[in-house]
Amino acid sequence: MQTSRSTRFTVAFCAMFVLSFHPSNRSVMGFEPNYDESKIPEYTLPDPLVTQSGSPVTTAEQWNTVRRPELLALFEKHVYGVSPPPCPIRRKHVSSKTVFDGLATRTEIDVLFGSADDATSMRMMVYVPKQRAGAVPAFLGLNFQGNHGVDDDPEIELNPGWFRVGRDGTTDGNKANEKSRGATASRWPLQMILKRGYAVATIYYGDIDPDFDDGFNNGIHGTLGDQVAHVAPESRWGSIAAWAYGLSRGLDCLEAETDLGIDAAKVAVLGHSRLGKTALWAGATDPRFAMVISNNSGCGGAALSRRAIGETVGRINEAFPHWFCDQFTEYNENEDACPVDQHELIALAAPRPIYVASATEDQWADPKGEFLAAAAADPVYRLLGTDGMGGDAPPAKMPAAEQPINSGVVGYHLRTGKHAVTDYDWQQYLDFADRHMKDGR
Ligand code: GCU
Repeated sequence: MQTSRSTRFTVAFCAMFVLSFHPSNRSVMGFEPNYDESKIPEYTLPDPLVTQSGSPVTTAEQWNTVRRPELLALFEKHVYGVSPPPCPIRRKHVSSKTVFDGLATRTEIDVLFGSADDATSMRMMVYVPKQRAGAVPAFLGLNFQGNHGVDDDPEIELNPGWFRVGRDGTTDGNKANEKSRGATASRWPLQMILKRGYAVATIYYGDIDPDFDDGFNNGIHGTLGDQVAHVAPESRWGSIAAWAYGLSRGLDCLEAETDLGIDAAKVAVLGHSRLGKTALWAGATDPRFAMVISNNSGCGGAALSRRAIGETVGRINEAFPHWFCDQFTEYNENEDACPVDQHELIALAAPRPIYVASATEDQWADPKGEFLAAAAADPVYRLLGTDGMGGDAPPAKMPAAEQPINSGVVGYHLRTGKHAVTDYDWQQYLDFADRHMKDGR
């Protein structure tokens, strides 16, 4: 049974109210997560190398022409929803400045979705190292608390848009306040990244689509919604798909802005948590992304849904009804019925390098399920002529913390600690990028 958008809006509004005040947000609405491996239901993963009609996929050509498009369409229909075709963008330069004692140039560009004067726009903030021999590779990712949350420079405008109520005093109602300046700086070690020779581009995710269930009217859902009118309502794009769409338009902008000094053919898309789910979907839908990085993305991201451990499909759809398409609710407490699972999302990035990262104290996101999904994507990577997770076969056992698997094109690590993005995570991503995105590799 599908619920209507308006019922969902009411339910979601109440859920948001409860969520904003609950100390952990993890056991709301009567949901008690299972963390016991022995209680995981028996499951069989769908085989990424067997088509829906049961034919084995044994060549790269079959993957590229039959199975990959089939899987992409299944994820659209059942999980994230169908997005509109790429819209033309308009770009307006906002500022350009030398920062960090001459280390980098910071440029801000407003990117408008479509040609209408009142088109929704997102502001991209780009840091490019000044010392460079030629165009440099880049990381592109969405941020949770505004561009002004990434770096506390008071010259970065406080984003005037809608923000989730923060428990850390960084919002007044749904508006960001001065305390939010630099609030997420620890997740964006800009100088470390720049010194390693990479550019960084980031966009506030709420510019693209504010993160609450308004019946899909605000953000680019409103601007571009007509273009999915032909799609069955239950399979229209949710917010994750909208954010991913924004990332692709961000890449359009980097391609067009050749003067920035970025090599747009070497842009890694990355994200944390819900924005990690988003990065994976952006990487799956937009093959121009040269590398994909999922940081603690969990349920609906890199973690296998069928394990139903920690956060489940039912719980995520209940708490965040706008993230996925309505069809995904069919798999609440019914994961086995879904024709895809998340290892196939990882496989959709193949043969491009992909990195999945987990944290020991982030059991809600099911670190083991994230590892198993990466390992289960390995056969697709090997079929496409890469070494997958490295060695002759993916490791049978999950690695210990701080023992990254990074010799192949499918990387994975488990970090000690909480749900976060830390310097340790970035060091692994930079090492991985050095191997796969630097010249001559
Ligand atoms: C919640 C949600 C997760 C999500 C996370 C986040 O914990 O249940 O699925 O990844 O928020 O995005 O911060």
